[in-house]
Amino acid sequence: MCGIVGYIGKRQAAPIILEGLSRLEYRGYDSAGIAVYDGERINIAKAAGRLKILEEMTHNGETLSGFVGIGHTRWATHGVPNTVNAHPHYNKSETIAVVHNGIIENYIGLRKMLKEKGYEFVSDTDTEVVAHLIDYYYKGNPLEAITKVLHRVEGSYALGVIFAEHPDQLFAARKDSPLIVGQNEEGCFIASDVPAILKYTRQVTYVDNQEIVRLRGDHMHFYTVDEEEIQKESVTIEWDANAAEKGGYEHFMLKEMYEQPKGVADTLLPRIKDGEVVIDELNMTDEELLSVKKIYIVACGSAYHAGVTGKYVLESLARISVEVDLASEFRYRNPVMEEGAMVIVVSQSGETADTLAALRESKKRGFKVLGIVNVVGSSIAREADSVLYTWAGPEIAVATTKAYSTQLIALYLLALKFARVRKTVGDKEFAGMLDDLKKLPDQIEMLLSNKNHIQKFANRYIGAKDIFFIGRGIDYAISLEGSLKLKEISYIHSEAYAAGELKHGTISLIEEGTLVAAVSTQPELFAKTISNMVEVKARGAFVLAVTNEGNIEIEKAADYVIYIPETNPCFANSLAIIPLQLFGYYVAVGKGCDVDKPRNLAKSVTVE
Ligand code: AGP
Repeated sequence: MCGIVGYIGKRQAAPIILEGLSRLEYRGYDSAGIAVYDGERINIAKAAGRLKILEEMTHNGETLSGFVGIGHTRWATHGVPNTVNAHPHYNKSETIAVVHNGIIENYIGLRKMLKEKGYEFVSDTDTEVVAHLIDYYYKGNPLEAITKVLHRVEGSYALGVIFAEHPDQLFAARKDSPLIVGQNEEGCFIASDVPAILKYTRQVTYVDNQEIVRLRGDHMHFYTVDEEEIQKESVTIEWDANAAEKGGYEHFMLKEMYEQPKGVADTLLPRIKDGEVVIDELNMTDEELLSVKKIYIVACGSAYHAGVTGKYVLESLARISVEVDLASEFRYRNPVMEEGAMVIVVSQSGETADTLAALRESKKRGFKVLGIVNVVGSSIAREADSVLYTWAGPEIAVATTKAYSTQLIALYLLALKFARVRKTVGDKEFAGMLDDLKKLPDQIEMLLSNKNHIQKFANRYIGAKDIFFIGRGIDYAISLEGSLKLKEISYIHSEAYAAGELKHGTISLIEEGTLVAAVSTQPELFAKTISNMVEVKARGAFVLAVTNEGNIEIEKAADYVIYIPETNPCFANSLAIIPLQLFGYYVAVGKGCDVDKPRNLAKSVTVE
């Protein structure tokens, strides 16, 4: 997510803006910029890379004098992360400057319209369209111009706008992307989030959808998109500065777990249009999709676990043969690969060395590579032949949650796309699955609200030495991820096992009181998994079951049951993983571990 800060008042704006942007670094970004009106013109400084570069470039804002300005840290969505694409963007005469967080979904059409009217574009961003569109509607009244723009754009936005002809005013507007405003005796502020202005005021007003704010040095006015003035209440922020960066959550990991419904929706919904799965980014015709007879999925860690789920779902729905490989194995085992196969690499960071190497090896052998990536403009995103971005937003916690959940969505969409062109799923079943997918965000939200029960259960296991996760098929894939979530942040030894494999050795490790988490979401495997649960219980295990609502049979074999709501079995991973994420999190919290930065781990393993 991008970060926005703006200021108008008695003090120099630039230092306040830069300080505010530094408080938003947790949102992740790849470039930054600032625009300040100096009494004669709007001066702009922008830089790719860390905020420090911009601070050094402007001597911490001293080179940009003036009392009104806007600043931005960019998490690239449209256009690679570089100086040209960094915000603020401005109109040709540089009399209007704009910063934006969100996605203008109809920017291509608007850009075409503006070009036909003689406007020229310097960047690849959707935001630059807003700057020129304000210019197009501006006839001397800034509020009128902004409201006209908001009636034209579609998508999400938090905007900050300054006008050289109106240096006594700063404007902000919001739809879907967060935006707050605040005031103290020295001026007024806009920001994407509380941390940016908490140093100056604890009284903030949350801007609601399709509201516009006109800020002056000593007061603010709020309007609807029809220019009707409205009154808004401010709230007092009780958080301390450190907590504020986490949006009030104790850890980034918990915050990101709670961002899963939005990340899943943002990754899913734009790719379901008129009852079809539309993945333009694939750049493949239906004929080309039909010609794919084999898929190799290559990744590391949780991304690999998502790939294991992807295998089961792609084979089940599209009846296409899928091989999943750990990237660190793939790159050195001189794999035998079938002609005409497709390679999919999955990576949150897009910088994992082994996964990048697997991509390069595949391309060297002449295979087309699709990247499922969360970081726009990352190495894997740039080197893949096509990219299916996950829209989880920046993920800070080392233990992935929301990025993993959105990787699952990307793989479900691919499976449905292949199934459609290969006609392996009927129309009615296909429509039903789309409906099930659309319900996932709300169902995830509901499961997250169960956190107190899971925390109570987790507290029983902070002293555990070994914890096992078992499942069959997709449930095995879920077990892999549930086990990793627990061990990487709580440092408790844990293994995931194909439930049918346990009796071939590992069952010897089960002792009195050993916790075994059994995942059972696949109806045709319920009975088999129950018999595996009975096996471990007979050896003293305490069995936690994660299963579908209605599968009460499992209560005969389980000591503690967590139910997940009804969904297509192919998508059950997206729901069953939620209690397992919460379990791992609360065990680690109970042990007093550094949840966001676990020992020995990095967020992105850019070395072998
Ligand atoms: C998962 O919680 C870990 N952070 C780790 O396994 C991670 O999934 C793996 O290193 C792959 O990272 P990537 O998705 O950025 O490629």
